[in-house]
Amino acid sequence: MKKTLGTLTGIVLIALSVSAVADEQTEIGKKIYERAFGRGCGTCHDIASNPQLTANIKAGTLDRAKFEQVIREGKGGMPKAIDEIMKNKAVQKAGYTEELALDALYKYISNK
Ligand code: HEC
Repeated sequence: MKKTLGTLTGIVLIALSVSAVADEQTEIGKKIYERAFGRGCGTCHDIASNPQLTANIKAGTLDRAKFEQVIREGKGGMPKAIDEIMKNKAVQKAGYTEELALDALYKYISNK
């Protein structure tokens, strides 16, 4: 019985920390989305669904690799954004690498 309780407590603690990490990731993704370039990605991407950023990610037509390529290299009217993302205070505070920051941002947009 004691052992079962210990195991259960362990499982609950692991579940809690996994969800805390997931929440932190979404929160950081949100901060990047709302603050990049001072006015956020939404200034260009939430209007008239012109460049269909969110829709394409949700539809699976813009995968993580293509997403990263556009963020790193820019595309037409889309400015290069990696430096801007790494300047974000939430990213710096969490000590995120470029990969982790892009994962967080991609995940946030996927669930938006
Ligand atoms: C100044 C306006 C502007 C801002 C700010 C901006 N974007 Fe864009 N973005 C664009 C435009 C315009 C395009 C379309 C480029 C094209 O296809 O020629 C685009 C395209 C993209 C694409 C490619 C979409 C596709 O389906 O091919 C991604 C990914 C993207 N933006 C991500 C972001 C993210 C993430 C942010 C915030 C960090 C951001 N953008 C901020 C204007 C902007």
